Amino acid sequence: MSSTFYIIEKTVSRFTITSPACCLLMSGVRKVFMSNKEASIIFLPSGRRGRFPHGVTLLDAARALGEPIESTCGGHLLCGKCQVRMESGAFARFGVHSSPDHVSPPTEEELRWLPSPTPLRLACNARIQGDLVVFVPEHARMHRQTIRKVAGQRTIEVVPTIHQVYVELSPPTLADRRSDWERLAAGLAEQWNLKDVRIAYPALRSLQSALREGNWRVTAIIWDESLVIEVRPGYREGIWGLAVDVGSTTMAAYLCDLQTGDLLASHAMMNPQVAYGEDLMSRISYAAQNEEGLKKLHRAVIGAFNRLAGEAARKAEIGQEDIHEAVIVGNTTMMTLFLGLDPRSLGEAPFTLAHRDAMDWPASPLKLRLHPAANIHILPAIAGHVGADNVAALLAEEPETLSQPALIIDVG
Ligand code: FES
Repeated sequence: MSSTFYIIEKTVSRFTITSPACCLLMSGVRKVFMSNKEASIIFLPSGRRGRFPHGVTLLDAARALGEPIESTCGGHLLCGKCQVRMESGAFARFGVHSSPDHVSPPTEEELRWLPSPTPLRLACNARIQGDLVVFVPEHARMHRQTIRKVAGQRTIEVVPTIHQVYVELSPPTLADRRSDWERLAAGLAEQWNLKDVRIAYPALRSLQSALREGNWRVTAIIWDESLVIEVRPGYREGIWGLAVDVGSTTMAAYLCDLQTGDLLASHAMMNPQVAYGEDLMSRISYAAQNEEGLKKLHRAVIGAFNRLAGEAARKAEIGQEDIHEAVIVGNTTMMTLFLGLDPRSLGEAPFTLAHRDAMDWPASPLKLRLHPAANIHILPAIAGHVGADNVAALLAEEPETLSQPALIIDVG
């Protein structure tokens, strides 16, 4: 006898899932035929647990429980990232006896991703055959923490707005004449539970060739779970982001690997607007009193941004057009000029801003030389002359976590 449903334990636990099995199937967990024997699976260190039929992969069990294991290829044995370790012995607190033998043996295809010898297994290729306590190492956890390498050592959680997913699609036939985009959108919904996703124009332009070149297997780069910004043939890794501080005197850029959180390169240069005035008020005056003043200041800072991005990309040995996202901070005058907005209201009380909230815009209208569908995120300002640079400092320094009052001083 076989069953097509997962059975999820209903014990009361912080992480135990109690949803009906049909919801899990609808939410993208792949349907497979399984034995009617069940096993208890406990993931550590989270403690998420549930009961699953023998034959289910550990990756599917993890997904059903909301256990965030890296799986950029979607369980196709192409990325080697879903590494887990089976614990051995009796675990009285969970009421199970766990053993590495309680999963199917590794295949040759799996072993090529793992060091030898190793206690690790790939969760997408290990099928449950008995009770298990499964440890998810730090490097295999999504949203893992990374040590920031500049401006002090600290741990940050890596949760990028952009991520990549691998999708396998069926080719069109006379009986299935869906458009290429309908086919990809359906694949994203079925295989990754990404629904109501749109496609950016630059991604649409490469969609047909990517699907055919990849034999209907593609890697999609998704922004904010809602917009496909790139489609690559086959399985290809790599998403990059740039953090830029537009200071009145100096501009600095930090290029990061958005999958690992690693800082790959940094570069700094003088803000070329200095030629139009040393301080903020003289630049506001220059913009107000010269017919082409605002245009010149705006062009100067955009040109500098592009040079910074190019230099950081060169150091990291990636293309400038590979940078998918940029986060930009600066004081309110710098951000106003960066966006090409009239700064005159910042030159006199009550110092009104054109826009105070966080913003997301495509990079292309500002002529930023990044990925053609890149997004720029601008942090919010607090008040007329308390800008996104202050917000960035607060986010980075986390004074709210300190037991004593803290003072942040930016000596510009
Ligand atoms: S999810 Fe990619 S190898 Fe397992």
